[in-house]
Amino acid sequence: DMYMDRQNSLGRDYSQAADRERHVLALEKVDSEKLTSGPLIGGKLKAGTNPQDVTNPFDRSQVLGHVSEATEADIDAAVNAAGNAQLAWDRKGGSGRAPVLRAMADALEHDIDRLVALLSREAGKTLNDGVAEVREAADFCRYYAMLAERDFGGREELKGPVGEINQLVLHGRGVFACISPWNFPLAIFTGQIAAALAAGNAVLAKPAEQTPLIAAEAVRLYHKAGLNADLLALVPGRGETVGAKLVSHPGIDGVAFTGGTDTAAAINRSIAARPGQIIPFIAETGGLNGMFVDTTALKEQVIDDVILSAFGSAGQRCSALRILYAPKDSADALIEGLKGALAAQVLADPTDPATDIGPVIDAESRANLEAHIERLKKEAKIVARAAMPEGADKGDLFAPTIAEIPTPDFLEREVFGPILHVYRYDPADLKTVAGKLAARGYGLTLGVHSRIEAFAEEVIRLVPAGNVYINRSITGAVVGVQPFGGEGLSGTGPKAGGPNSLIRYAAEKAISNNI
Ligand code: NAD
Ligand code: ALA
Repeated sequence: DMYMDRQNSLGRDYSQAADRERHVLALEKVDSEKLTSGPLIGGKLKAGTNPQDVTNPFDRSQVLGHVSEATEADIDAAVNAAGNAQLAWDRKGGSGRAPVLRAMADALEHDIDRLVALLSREAGKTLNDGVAEVREAADFCRYYAMLAERDFGGREELKGPVGEINQLVLHGRGVFACISPWNFPLAIFTGQIAAALAAGNAVLAKPAEQTPLIAAEAVRLYHKAGLNADLLALVPGRGETVGAKLVSHPGIDGVAFTGGTDTAAAINRSIAARPGQIIPFIAETGGLNGMFVDTTALKEQVIDDVILSAFGSAGQRCSALRILYAPKDSADALIEGLKGALAAQVLADPTDPATDIGPVIDAESRANLEAHIERLKKEAKIVARAAMPEGADKGDLFAPTIAEIPTPDFLEREVFGPILHVYRYDPADLKTVAGKLAARGYGLTLGVHSRIEAFAEEVIRLVPAGNVYINRSITGAVVGVQPFGGEGLSGTGPKAGGPNSLIRYAAEKAISNNI
């Protein structure tokens, strides 16, 4: 069966000398190159405008390469080329498109050391996070190749009256704009493109401002894997300029977006204002993710899972844990345990295999987090802050923090970084406490730690979430295993990496023939 026979990608093991050696060589190579990113149209790098240095978030004095922004003329040219190439691509059908996506997955795995090195340098990813990201990107390509073959293989016969043939067929919509965040600059960037391509569309991809180099690598790999270069253009630049231009361009037939909830709302307004056009908008956005623990939970397991969920990837996952609901009778022990576990986390250069937590993405993000810490100092209680290592002032390391909040509705919005909020609650008040979280309107991830099934079921009923995790960490969804995406303010769906992922990238045609 096609789901069960599927294999997810394998990785690297940095406890092995050979894998560490490969990493060091790849890092040296990335450091010695002057990488370039910019508008890539028809496979050619254009001059673009507004050239900028791309620097390392752990050490801002290190320039990794350069990027220039796409101009309006670049976008027009890319939309034209994409529109002209799309129909032939769509007509290939799923079985004609799948081999290119599988070749892309192979290409990603082939270049895993280089990609991990660049993810670490440009996005501050730890090596294990980098490996997970390359694997996820490859998994998206293979999974969507499978869906392309499943759903775009011809006409589905439907039941109808005698003397009439009824069929349903899926096809691409045209040219998609894929707009992605910096926190999964390879996996989400590659995955959105793979979904759009699998469904028979051409793509203009706009990476986040912070991570244009890895995006250019991915686009070059797609082309190397055999994709007609006109079907995928890279259009880097700022959201307010290049992004805004893209989503209002009359040649764009759909928008796939992953990023903040406010940005999604702005794009939604722009799409609504398109004169004479209605196009689909797929949005995966932020979360205000909680984990509810009861007194039957296993303390050591809770501590491991909370540390990973809140501080893994420096808390810069949309799925990351923001509020831990600790039952009042075991809250002290839990908080003590978390303090000890936080102190053992290694905050350092993410290219070092021993590092657990790297920098946050940029100075603006760090400043926002520091401002939130000031609020916590005044209105809540800081329970623990990790010590900053030497040399931390070179870049954007931020000390992971645990704070106790005085009320269950203290947080209104997602705070995107390594800050865990703990709320002590009385399990007798579960309904009220959970209701306050639900009232914020998000619905991304949700955790429960308990050995009582009825407790878990009650939490699931009370708090909206697209992804629920019981007795484990709440991050790290795996393609095809935990289809990922939220509801409410957290996104429109369909989920990424699930059996329904491609449906909104496609148009459906019903053909009824009275023979
Ligand atoms: P962001 O919203 O600031 O930017 C995302 C992308 O949108 C970038 O490419 C940006 O340039 C572009 N953009 C900004 N303004 C635009 C506009 N007006 N028109 C068009 N494009 C515009 O988000 P970010 O800071 O890059 O990423 C972090 C956010 O992403 C967090 O809120 C996180 O929760 C969310 N996220 C969600 C998921 C998910 O699957 N639900 C996954 C990863 C990240
Ligand atoms: N898909 C990513 C996770 O589950 C965001 O952590």
